[in-house]
Amino acid sequence: MVTLRGKFITLDGVDGAGKSTHLAWVVDKLRQRGITVVQTREPGGTLLGEKLRAILLSESMHLETEALLMFAARREHIAQVIEPALSVGHWVVCDRFTDASFAYQGGGRGLSVHKLAVLESWVQEELTPHLTLLFDIPVEIALGRIGNMARELDRFEQEKTDFFERVRAAYLARAAQSEGRIRVISANQSIENIQKELEELIGTLMGTRMVGKPTLIL
Ligand code: TYD
Repeated sequence: MVTLRGKFITLDGVDGAGKSTHLAWVVDKLRQRGITVVQTREPGGTLLGEKLRAILLSESMHLETEALLMFAARREHIAQVIEPALSVGHWVVCDRFTDASFAYQGGGRGLSVHKLAVLESWVQEELTPHLTLLFDIPVEIALGRIGNMARELDRFEQEKTDFFERVRAAYLARAAQSEGRIRVISANQSIENIQKELEELIGTLMGTRMVGKPTLIL
């Protein structure tokens, strides 16, 4: 059994919610406070995971294949990056994690929550983020932001409004069932207000041993 000493923070939300900007700010804040932070992302975070990411963001495939590849990349990521970092006391800040699978593959594509829950417990065992920052925004605003991006859109970003409405609803449903682990932050307000909320949440996490479930994995 490995004791995980560091804290595990994930950031999630529909494409276009501004998650990447806030992630950079959170990582900076934690480093300013003297915490060693490993910044990573999903799908990806390892050599193999980044190869799977390239396939997932470009190739069309059966929805179950998509879910299995997301979790295959996650298994590698936990074994190679997340668990080793947490076990030596580093904090891990991850751009998306399993909540995205429940929102995109579950809500968006319609894969059964039961199948996703089986994969979750297989791949993660007891590992759960201590804190998840869920950036929530009305879909039409998110789609407007995506539409203004200078680069080519990936396979998920090309989806239609209905898909993102289902993704958003699945995120919010999961947040409601998360017993406080997932904190919903309205991304449709000033950056200053968002940063104030984030600062409080980080402060709480630093002052307590944990927000989420115990972090022992076999
Ligand atoms: P994203 O963080 O949005 O990448 P970028 O900021 O570079 O555009 O993640 C890529 C996409 O992967 C995103 O549209 C959501 C999707 N995704 C899933 O569908 N399921 C998952 O489990 C994860 C982790 C991501």
